[in-house]
Order: sequence, then structure tokens, then C-alpha cells
Amino acid sequence: MESDHPTHPLTGKVIVITGAARGQGAAEARALAQAGAKAIATDVRPEPDGDCRRLDVTSESDWTALAAELRETYGHVHGLVNNAGVIQRDRLGEVRPEDFADVHAVNATGPLLGIQHLAPLMPPGSAIVNVGSSAALTGYYPVAYTASKWALRGVSKIAAMELGPRGIRVNTVHPGYIETEMTAAATPAFREATIGETPLGRSGTVDDIAPLVVFLLSDASSFITGAEIPVDGGLTAHGGVKSISDAVRPGTPDTQTP
Ligand SMILES: NC(=O)c1ccc[n+]([C@@H]2O[C@H](COP(=O)([O-])OP(=O)(O)OC[C@H]3O[C@@H](n4cnc5c(N)ncnc54)[C@H](O)[C@@H]3O)[C@@H](O)[C@H]2O)c1
Repeated sequence: MESDHPTHPLTGKVIVITGAARGQGAAEARALAQAGAKAIATDVRPEPDGDCRRLDVTSESDWTALAAELRETYGHVHGLVNNAGVIQRDRLGEVRPEDFADVHAVNATGPLLGIQHLAPLMPPGSAIVNVGSSAALTGYYPVAYTASKWALRGVSKIAAMELGPRGIRVNTVHPGYIETEMTAAATPAFREATIGETPLGRSGTVDDIAPLVVFLLSDASSFITGAEIPVDGGLTAHGGVKSISDAVRPGTPDTQTP
């Protein structure tokens, strides 16, 4: 069904975004509001002078309180963006079980709790967007992070199947290397190597992600559910072949045509 508001496709929709105090979540909250939504921005660390509501995605009681508030204020919720996430960079041999569990609590259990608590408030036509990662499509070496994002893929697939009959869609976006505070601490070697594996030859910005999230929450995507969409400049599409291709091609990659 086409929206009556082509430039404001989310008019009248109440949409919750987690991890929205900064980075991708803040950009998504802005984009959703610009598209006409009532965007409920939440974060475990809301800025003191910002308009984020406090919500720790790992806390069942926080979700219960939010759901009760939304039921009271609006009666329903039309969208959820499970964006909050944390990185933990230990490798296989060094990661501690407690850190592994903590990362899962935010990146996989958090979205699960969000779906469990808000889906009951969602009428047909609602949509959920989970924010995965290119790590969820590869064997990216920070093992706790990667395993948690693979777990989120599983949650997404099951949610799409379980909620589809109620008219609720569930899709996943997989960002590649995006310039936010999460990646600000990356070493130059990491940044250079990642961009070297990215066919479009650059890092992404928060504004590369937000328009897709708006689309997936809007009625324009009403037959799309269970989809996983990388927004990664082609990073995961070649399955690791780019560095091999570049290594064996005569001349520099920048000056060659296919
Ligand atoms: N930046 C990247 O390159 C990249 C790549 C792939 C995937 N992602 C994913 O994109 C999402 C957004 O990341 P970002 O780059 O904007 O990172 P960011 O660190 O800038 O923002 C993450 C936000 O999540 C919040 N948060 C952390 N724990 C929380 C909790 N328990 N409850 C509620 N909020 C919590 C933080 O306070 C922060 O505001 C994450 O899920 C991340 O894993 C990021």
C-alpha cells in the first residue's frame, strides 16, 4: 500500500530506536522524525541535554516500563529499530566468558527483549529493523561481537517467521565500516585494510544507513520481510576475494578497468 505522504512516509507512526544518543541511532532518529514519525529515541547513556529517554536494552524492567508508557500514551507502536550495540575486540584465545556473555546481552538479548515487549503493541503493518553487522556475514575475528551478531541474525529470521502472520515485518541491515564513535578508536592499519577490502573504496557514514531504515519501516517495503541487506560498500559481497584479485592484477587497482 502506497503512503498518502510520499515525502513523509512514516507520518502517524510511533517508532522506538535504541542506542539513539549518538552515531547511527541518532541519525536514524533524526531521519525517522523527518519522515514524519513520532520517533522515541532511547539509550542507556542519554545525553543530559538531549531528548533521549533512558533505556538499557539488557534490562527487562526497562522494556516493561517503556511498553507500559507507550501503551498509556499512544495505545500502540508501529516500529522498532534495534540499533544499540557494543563492540568487544578480544580474539578467540583471549576472550573471557563473562565478556562474551555481556556482549551477547546487549547485541542479541537486547533486541530479543525489545521484540518480546513491543510486538504485542504492534498493529498489522508494523515493522522491526535489526542492526546487524558485516561481522554477521563473515568470520570477523573479534569473536564475542561476531558471535553476538550471528545470534541476532537467528533472532531476526525467527521473528520474521513468527510475526509475519500478524502483519509485522522484520528485516536486518548489516552495516560495514561506518564512521562513528564505535570505529573512532580503530587503528590506521585496521581502517586502511578494511577500506582496501571495500570495492567502493571508502568508509560509510551514518547517512548511508538511515534512509534504508526509513524505507524498511515504511509501507513502501510492505512485502519485504526476513531480508538481510548489507550497507557496506561491497565489503562482504566478494567473500574475501578482493585482496587476492588485487594482489594478482598487474598495475594498481585504482588504474585498472575490469
Ligand atoms: N560503526 C560501525 O562501523 C558498525 C559496523 C557494523 C555494525 N554496527 C552496529 O551499528 C549499531 C550502531 O553502532 P554505532 O556505530 O552507532 O556505535 P556507537 O557506539 O556510536 O553507538 C552505540 C549506541 O548504543 C548505546 N548502547 C550501548 N549499550 C547499550 C545498552 N545496553 N542499552 C541501550 N543502549 C546502549 C550506546 O550508548 C551508544 O549510544 C550497533 O549495533 C553496531 O554494532 C556498527
